[in-house]
Amino acid sequence: MEKLVINGGKSLFGSIDISGAKNAAVAILPAAVAAGEGKCVIDNIPDIADINCLERIVESLGCTVERNGNSLTIDSTTLNNLDACTEDVRRMRASYYLIGALLARFKKARVELPGGCPIGVRPIDQHIKGFEALGADVKIEHGAVVVTAEKLKGANIFFDVVTVGATINVMIAATLAEGVTTLENAAREPHVVDVANFLNAMGANVKGAGTDIIRITGVESLKGCNYSVIPDQIEAGTFMIAAASCGGEVRVSNVIPKHLESITAKLTEMGVEVIEEDDSVIIKSDRNLKGVNIKTAPYPGFPTDIQQPMSTILSVAKGRSIINESIWESRLKHVDELKKMGANIKVEGRTAILDGVEKLTGAIVKATDLRAGAAMVIAGLIADGTTEIYSIEHIDRGYPHIEDKFKSLGADIHRETE
Ligand code: EPZ
Repeated sequence: MEKLVINGGKSLFGSIDISGAKNAAVAILPAAVAAGEGKCVIDNIPDIADINCLERIVESLGCTVERNGNSLTIDSTTLNNLDACTEDVRRMRASYYLIGALLARFKKARVELPGGCPIGVRPIDQHIKGFEALGADVKIEHGAVVVTAEKLKGANIFFDVVTVGATINVMIAATLAEGVTTLENAAREPHVVDVANFLNAMGANVKGAGTDIIRITGVESLKGCNYSVIPDQIEAGTFMIAAASCGGEVRVSNVIPKHLESITAKLTEMGVEVIEEDDSVIIKSDRNLKGVNIKTAPYPGFPTDIQQPMSTILSVAKGRSIINESIWESRLKHVDELKKMGANIKVEGRTAILDGVEKLTGAIVKATDLRAGAAMVIAGLIADGTTEIYSIEHIDRGYPHIEDKFKSLGADIHRETE
């Protein structure tokens, strides 16, 4: 069992490079299996457990995967298995993008129902609605999604909720459908745009990604391409919040500042100085922080994936802050862990009321999910004394080498194996 051990109280200084976006990369890898010829060479792939898991999954389908540093080459011309039913598939969320990719290319697939972070009910009804609208027959059998279609035909699909997963999955499936598909009330997250750009690089015709209406004109086939994943908005936001919480001056590099605007705006409202440059943001903080209110919302609103790290900084900001988690019904489980460190937080349903305390104190805590883990790391960095964080496999799913990155900024953090 591994744990992170942090001796808190150090200010952070220096520069940190943000890795490729997890939630783009975990969709791009499955989408690559839709290529019927050539290889996909994908750069800026983050070194995280979810990617390793996906590599094993696509290999189990018969694809060849080669890793060279941050670059992955996928040859899916050798794919010979349409049955994605392994423990890895069940463990992670993004494995469900294989449904869209296999359905597009082979018109059939069997993919085990996905797992992912325990942050509330995670239905896939909008994915199914989209596949059915394209002409697929969709069944849930023995814990797997079974899709078949004679052929796929373009359709108008209006999503009942703004969903990243269904927008991406149905967009992938529609690339090889006959005619035009229109997705309305589509998610606008940067990773939706990145997947659309990747599909276009493979020869697809996707327009409008980044707005709430996406038009996909079906093409005959997709082929391999060279592509580079965008920087991770959520990893960047996590480091911005950490720097603001610890005090000091940190340049968060290799980012797209536009993607960070909602986070920048909140930190500025808290009294933190944020300087935007072309591909970096500089955070200057004297730890004199003011409480603010947060309501999570689909992009360009405040990201739910940053809500938990944000709750840590708000727990030591002056005055009262209120967090309203509007996307996931159960994404405040980390509050009990923060309370062990002295935070004063009350949870009522999806709302957290935080009364800022002078300081947090080190304790033994656990990462209840991925971003909760990031919240606990930030808590450990600002706390007096030593914090030990358990269940860090959650953190490793989405943050590449988190301890090395914080260490390079002057934090006292290391990993221990028990
Ligand atoms: C993606 O999950 C991310 N995961 C999540 O990040 C992120 O929290 C979420 O988008 C929202 O931004 C990946 O990209 C792998 P949704 P996803 O479909 O696609 C409801 C992290 O920390 N909904 O946008 O599963 C759903 O219940 C992870 O990196 C339906 O009702 O999220 C939720 O309330 C955790 N029916 C809302 O939509 C559906 O068919 C948004 O979900 C699908 C979703």
